[in-house]
Amino acid sequence: MRTEVGIVGAGPAGLTLAALLHEAGIESVVLEGRSRDYVEARIRAGVLEQGTVETLERAGVADRLHREGIVHGGIHLQFDGERHHVPLSELSGGRTIVVYGQTEVVKDLIAARLAVKLPLLFEVENVSVHDHDSDTPRIRFEHEGSEQWLECDAIAGCDGFHGVCRPAIARVLQTFERDYPYAWLGILAAAPPSSEELVYAHHPNGFALLSLRSPTLSRLYLQCSPDEELDGWPDERIWSELETRAGGIHRGEILERGVTPMRSFVAQPMHHGNLFLAGDAAHIVPPTGAKGLNLAVHDARLLADALIARKRTGSHELLDAYSTTCLRRVWRAEHFSYWMTSMLHRSPSGDPFEEQLQLSQLRYVTTSTAAATSLAENYVGIERV
Ligand code: FAD
Ligand code: PHB
Repeated sequence: MRTEVGIVGAGPAGLTLAALLHEAGIESVVLEGRSRDYVEARIRAGVLEQGTVETLERAGVADRLHREGIVHGGIHLQFDGERHHVPLSELSGGRTIVVYGQTEVVKDLIAARLAVKLPLLFEVENVSVHDHDSDTPRIRFEHEGSEQWLECDAIAGCDGFHGVCRPAIARVLQTFERDYPYAWLGILAAAPPSSEELVYAHHPNGFALLSLRSPTLSRLYLQCSPDEELDGWPDERIWSELETRAGGIHRGEILERGVTPMRSFVAQPMHHGNLFLAGDAAHIVPPTGAKGLNLAVHDARLLADALIARKRTGSHELLDAYSTTCLRRVWRAEHFSYWMTSMLHRSPSGDPFEEQLQLSQLRYVTTSTAAATSLAENYVGIERV
């Protein structure tokens, strides 16, 4: 098999890249280790920046997003038992965020690709990348019991944090990492949203987040420990803890539950030869800033633009700048996510000094327009980093 761009991973990064390349007349093959059902059922992020929506429009997959996505112009920060509104749009020149599940974005991208019968192979096994420092990189994989080689002009490593592409170039990478002493217990519940806009709540028992997916589906999170056992959290304990930490909770049947670890991680540069990393394959942020999915889509857009420019003009300039350009936004998001995380979570040691600093910071961002503007422009997605 031969194609122009071999894409490993059918998450938001790989699928968005494939769609943007297709719009520009560039061929690609997408290889995904999991089944279509698995990929479409995986519940993850839910907040899209305006820039992400614009990229999905360009990729031709925004119709349902415009029909079903819920536009928000603000969020709430809650602490000391009081809820404060942060008017994101007002503070960011009218920019908005859209609440639309990552699962739905992935479903739309898969449907669009399969509708035009472009190659997207699920359940591929034993993927490995070869000759990426040459002009003819190759991907080896197994599919439906047979070994295959895919020759291409470039490989896009969009295979997430646990993929094979980053380890293949580990010797040229510098990595940066921070683990947090807590995690999130997340649930999806058949209940109307408990608040119209998202609520990020600081509480002595730990952080809580009230989010949503639709007028009848709530997405709710509680800070817990990284090794938390779900068995210790019967429904009643989840609901009463959400009530204690955030209040005004609408209950319903819990449809899904899981524990998400929190980590900050960056590997740089985001390429070696003709192997380019995008999304979680290169960087991870804790979810408190709602940035992971947005960064993945942004990387995909920059990589698509650079590959399109190379094909149209023969110039490598954008590809050479790809890593540096991505990393400016990545590091801004790393800092913002770390800052939101540190401001809102209870330290397991219960350090009273730290708690007073958090409360002071929360009072500052909810009373100073300057501080709130800084939060707002980062949350909606900084235009120029
Ligand atoms: P992924 O979505 O991870 O996609 C990578 C794809 O590659 C997967 O489909 C995987 O199956 C495939 N793959 C892996 N290895 C191979 C291989 N060897 N061969 C072929 N295919 C392979 N962000 C937020 O902003 N808010 C949240 O609430 C939030 N919750 C999250 C919960 C969890 C459990 C996780 C893991 C992440 C969460 N994130 C959240 C982060 C956000 O979902 C990611 O940043 C986003 O999915 C990144 O997209 P991606 O395409 O780079 O990677
Ligand atoms: C979500 O809706 O899943 C969500 C929203 C905001 C975040 C993280 C997750 O910061």
